[in-house]
Order: sequence, then C-alpha cells, then structure tokens
Amino acid sequence: MLRVLFVGDVFGQPGRRVLSARLPELRKGVDFAVVNMENSAGGFGMHREAADAALKAGADCFTLGNHAWHHRDVFTMMNDEVTYPIVRPLNYSDPGAPGVGWRTFDVQGEGGSRERLTVVQVLGRVFMEALANPFRALDDLLDRGEDLGNILVDVHAEATSEKQALAWHLDGRVAAVIGTHTHVPTADTRILPGGTAYQTDAGFTGPHDSVIGSDPAAPIQRFLTERHDRYRVADGRAELNGVRLELEWNRAVKIERVRIVEGE
Ligand SMILES: [Fe+2]
Ligand SMILES: [Fe+2]
Repeated sequence: MLRVLFVGDVFGQPGRRVLSARLPELRKGVDFAVVNMENSAGGFGMHREAADAALKAGADCFTLGNHAWHHRDVFTMMNDEVTYPIVRPLNYSDPGAPGVGWRTFDVQGEGGSRERLTVVQVLGRVFMEALANPFRALDDLLDRGEDLGNILVDVHAEATSEKQALAWHLDGRVAAVIGTHTHVPTADTRILPGGTAYQTDAGFTGPHDSVIGSDPAAPIQRFLTERHDRYRVADGRAELNGVRLELEWNRAVKIERVRIVEGE
C-alpha cells in the first residue's frame, strides 16, 4: 500500500511559506508527496528558490501547469532531473518540449513494501490554450504497456466537465485523477466505480484573503472597468489544500481532503 499526498498549486511567497511550515509534518504520514508548483514564483511559474525550499520541506515530485514555462529557471532545472523531479504537462503538440510529461518513481510503501508510482500531468483545452488532446495523450501513454505501477494524474484544467469526463474515461485504468488550476477545493471527493480516486480541484496553497491568489483590488477593478490593472500576490495568512490518497494495485483505497488555514 502506498500513501501519497498531493498538494495543490503553490502560489507566491505566502504559498511557499505555508508549504515550508506544514509539509514536513504532513509528509511524515505518507510515503510520497507531489506538489503542484506552477504559481510558486510570484504567481507565475517555478523558480529555483521555490523548488529548493519545497524539496527541503519534503516534496518528492513537482507538477506544473499552464504557467510551466513562465520562469526560465525551469529550463535549467529540467536538465538536472535527479535533483529536480519535475513533471510538466504531457500534451504539448511540440515533440521537442523540454522536460517530461510523466515520471515513474520507486517508492518504499507502508511496511517497507516496494511500490511504483507514476505521476503524469495533462492540461485541459476548454477555456485554455490550444494543445494536443489530453484524453488521447493519456490513452497513448497507458497503451504503451509499460509497468507504470500506481498512476496519479494531475489534470490542470478550467472546466469541471472536462475534468470529470477525463476521470470517467480513465476510471479503472489509473489510481487517481486530481484536478488543479482553479485554486478552489471542490467537495466531490470520491472513488469512482472502477477504483479511481477523483476530486475536481485540489484547491491551491496560497493567500487566504485573495482572488485565486491575487490581492482583490486589481481583479475587482478589472471587473468594474474592463481595464486590466497589474495583479499583486495578496499578503496575510495562507491556506494549504490537497488530498491524501491510499493506493494499491493502481486503485484507490482511500481519498481524503487536506485543508489547513493559518490562524484557524
Ligand atoms: Fe494555478
Ligand atoms: Fe494554472
């Protein structure tokens, strides 16, 4: 049995702070921790400072998202895949995209058992940039016949319908489908009939008093005036959101939400 923690989009300095403060304790209760880092560098991308702090706190694998390429540190980190276990979106149309869209880890499970965990990320296409088909990209990966062990899919997408459809499409073929990108945790945590754990969005790890991470002033002004002002990472207390999974034979035995709000 393999216990995995998945932490949703780390956003800016408040997100990095709450991750560094809380991940070490959370990590003790699991065998592996996947952290989505796409907003960890001031809201856009991941820089080395953020990656190093997350590794120190106990992260075992990083996923990214639509802001994958925003900070150029990511390109050099991708050249050092032992130090920086990064999984970027799988479904870019460019076959020469840097990095990898999935990665298999050998993990020591509960009671010393040897387990395999494959982490894969896809980007959705509804209300997002045009990319290759994420459903087909995952079918192609699963049809290769490789021993991927327990498979965890981070579906980084805007539309609930696209995320749900992907989960049903993959039900019984992967251990978990966990959504990211909308930054708000959803309450639909469940295991589908075929054994795949699912939650539409893990929620994010960043400033609690914010509009999906930004200080509310600029988004309010934008919606009031149709003029896009500069967004600023909100200050103040932070929240950490994610899910905790128990996996066996590429099926989920358990999924539960993890939510910490500083000061509560
Ligand atoms: Fe995000
Ligand atoms: Fe995103």
